[in-house]
Amino acid sequence: MSMNDNEEITGHRASPAMELDRIETTDALTGLRRLPAESIDCMITSPPYWAQRNYGGTPLTWPDGRTGSLGLEPEFDQYLDHLVSIFDEAHRVLKPSGTLWVNLGDCYAGSWSIGPAHGGHAGRHAQPGMVPGWNHHANPRRSVMPLAKLPVPNKCLCLVPERFALRMVARSWTLRNRIVWHKPNFLPARVKDRFACSWEYLFLFTKSERYWFDLDAVRVPHASIRGATTPWRTFREGPRRARAVADTTVGRRELNPKGKNPGDCWVIPTHGSRRYAHPAAFPEALLERPIKSGCPPGGVVLDPFMGSGTTAVVARRLGRRFIGFEANAEFAALARRRIAETRPVQPLEGDRGVAAAA
Ligand SMILES: C[S@@+](CC[C@H](N)C(=O)[O-])C[C@H]1O[C@@H](n2cnc3c(N)ncnc32)[C@H](O)[C@@H]1O
Repeated sequence: MSMNDNEEITGHRASPAMELDRIETTDALTGLRRLPAESIDCMITSPPYWAQRNYGGTPLTWPDGRTGSLGLEPEFDQYLDHLVSIFDEAHRVLKPSGTLWVNLGDCYAGSWSIGPAHGGHAGRHAQPGMVPGWNHHANPRRSVMPLAKLPVPNKCLCLVPERFALRMVARSWTLRNRIVWHKPNFLPARVKDRFACSWEYLFLFTKSERYWFDLDAVRVPHASIRGATTPWRTFREGPRRARAVADTTVGRRELNPKGKNPGDCWVIPTHGSRRYAHPAAFPEALLERPIKSGCPPGGVVLDPFMGSGTTAVVARRLGRRFIGFEANAEFAALARRRIAETRPVQPLEGDRGVAAAA
C-alpha cells in the first residue's frame, strides 16, 4: 500500500492542535485522559510487567478503588484490570487509522523478587547513576510478593501476555500480530529444569479493519536459494548448495522487487541494562519497524510508559512527533536529556526542540 493509498483507504486525518515533542512526568492514565480524542497516530509502549520490578514513583488510586503501583498488584488479574483501564483510554485517543504496539513479558508463579512489602532493592543492588527503587538482579529463589492464591500452580508460567491479549480483543481491539522479539543475547538462566526465556511478545493492535500501514517502508531483501525449488530439496542437497543470493524469483513465483515482508519473528539484541541507567530500555532497533510501518511521516507517536525515552528518540530520528508520559521523575528527566541530543533526519515543520514540560 503506498502512502497515498493509506490516506484514501484509512481516512487518515491530521492531529488536532496540541503540544507535541514533550515528556510529561505523570502516570499514564492521567496523561491519556488529558489528550484529545483521536489525536494519536501510533502508540508504542512497554508497561511495567507484572511482579518484576519496583520502579518507584507515587502509588496510584485506580478506577477499581485500589491503591498501588502498576505491576505490584498481588494478583495478575488485578494488574490486568489496571492495565486494560489504561488501554481503554488509549483507544479513545488513538485515531481510527492508528496502530498500537505493546511489548509485554511474563513470569513464573512463585519466582517473584519484589513486592509492595519489599520495596525494591535500592540498598543492596543500587548501581551508581541508577535510579533507586528498582531491582537490578531479580533473585528467582526469593518470593516476597504477597502470596495471593493464583489460578496456576507454582513454577507455572502465568501467561500474563496471553491473558492481556484476550482481554484487549474482548474490549474491541483487533489483534493483527503477535510478533516474537527474539533476543539472541538473552541472559543465561540459573534454572536447571526448563529452557531459558529468549523472546517476548510485541503485540500489534488496531482500532479499525483499515489502518495506516506502510509495509514497503520495512521490507527486507529476498534471500532465496539459487536453483532450489523446494526447501526439502535445499535440505537434501546440503549446505554447499544452500548459498543465499538476492534473487527475484523462487521457482516460478514472482517476488516483490521492493523486498520481502519481514515476518513476525524479529531477532534484535538487547543492549544491556546499564546503557541508559534504566533497567528495561528498548533497543532502538526494535522500534524502527513499528514507527516506519505504523506511523505516517510527521505523525504523532505516543509512549505512555516512556522510561528512558527510547520511543521518542527513534520517533524523532525518523521524522515523527512524539508525546511521552513517565511516572518516575528521574526517568522522565533522563528521557528529556536523551531526546535533546537527538536530531530529526528531516527537519519537521514547527519543530522547536524538546518541550521541557514537567
Ligand atoms: C518497561 S519500562 C519502559 C522502558 C522504556 N520502553 C525505555 O525504552 O526506556 C516501564 C516504565 O513505566 C514507568 N511507569 C510505571 N508505572 C507507570 C504509570 N502508572 N504511568 C506511567 N509510567 C509508569 C516506569 O517508571 C518505567 O520507566
